Amino acid sequence: MKIALLGHGAMGRVLEETARAAGLEVGAIVTSANAADASRLLRGHTVAIDFSAPGGVLAHVEAAVAAGVPLVQGTTGWQREEPEVRKIVDARGGSLVYGANFSIGVNLFYRLVASAARLFRRSHGYDPFIEEAHHARKRDAPSGTALALRSILMRELDVETVAIASTRAGSIPGTHRVGFDSAADQVLLVHTAHSRTGFAAGALLAASWIAGGTRRGMHAFSDVLDDILEVT
Ligand SMILES: NC(=O)c1ccc[n+]([C@@H]2O[C@H](COP(=O)([O-])OP(=O)(O)OC[C@H]3O[C@@H](n4cnc5c(N)ncnc54)[C@H](OP(=O)(O)O)[C@@H]3O)[C@@H](O)[C@H]2O)c1
Repeated sequence: MKIALLGHGAMGRVLEETARAAGLEVGAIVTSANAADASRLLRGHTVAIDFSAPGGVLAHVEAAVAAGVPLVQGTTGWQREEPEVRKIVDARGGSLVYGANFSIGVNLFYRLVASAARLFRRSHGYDPFIEEAHHARKRDAPSGTALALRSILMRELDVETVAIASTRAGSIPGTHRVGFDSAADQVLLVHTAHSRTGFAAGALLAASWIAGGTRRGMHAFSDVLDDILEVT
């Protein structure tokens, strides 16, 4: 598997290291310096993995589709572009896996939160909340993961919204807390990322799943996990 990287910051570098350690070939590396040439640079790769910036996502999707290369989209903060991205991928037979969080632990956490919410829905007097903390360089707030957690809580609790508090400081790789608070007590579910290697491992898992080009269209990372790990 020959992988192209879009973005070579904190995540791109960890991905490169993890991919090489797994014996995979890393080819083109696209940053803002050579982004204009992305579609030519991507040609001939088995798969491309994007951890860059929200402003580059649309152009990167177009470049990957034009080059006929399946794309793993790990960048966050591009929800507004999603209809346009879907249009490009569907109209031109592209293949894309997206996820606000490629950590397998976080994806299991989503499922724990969903089942906790189903229990709390039946117990009156508990108010849900979400807290997330990330390093100071993270551009989007709330995090894509916090937004995914909010959707899960809204769906399972049948509420209009859930409050999210965001912290940006230092080098925190990523912490998400989901709480259920009542006058009597509080229940807290916490996921803490120790490093970025979990995101890289999940992105490579998604890359091997989408490589080959037979899985057309847009797929969520949770679909990949359902398929590969048979986690339901
Ligand atoms: N889905 C997940 O599991 C997950 C996990 C961690 C992070 N993320 C997300 O991944 C993204 C990157 O995070 P990071 O911590 O690696 O950020 P970072 O350290 O700031 O690195 C961003 C990289 O993207 C490049 N870049 C910016 N605009 C670009 C463009 N238009 N075309 C190509 N490259 C461009 C930058 O290159 P220049 O320096 O040349 O501008 C830099 O190499 C963020 O959106 C973050 O939220 C997702």
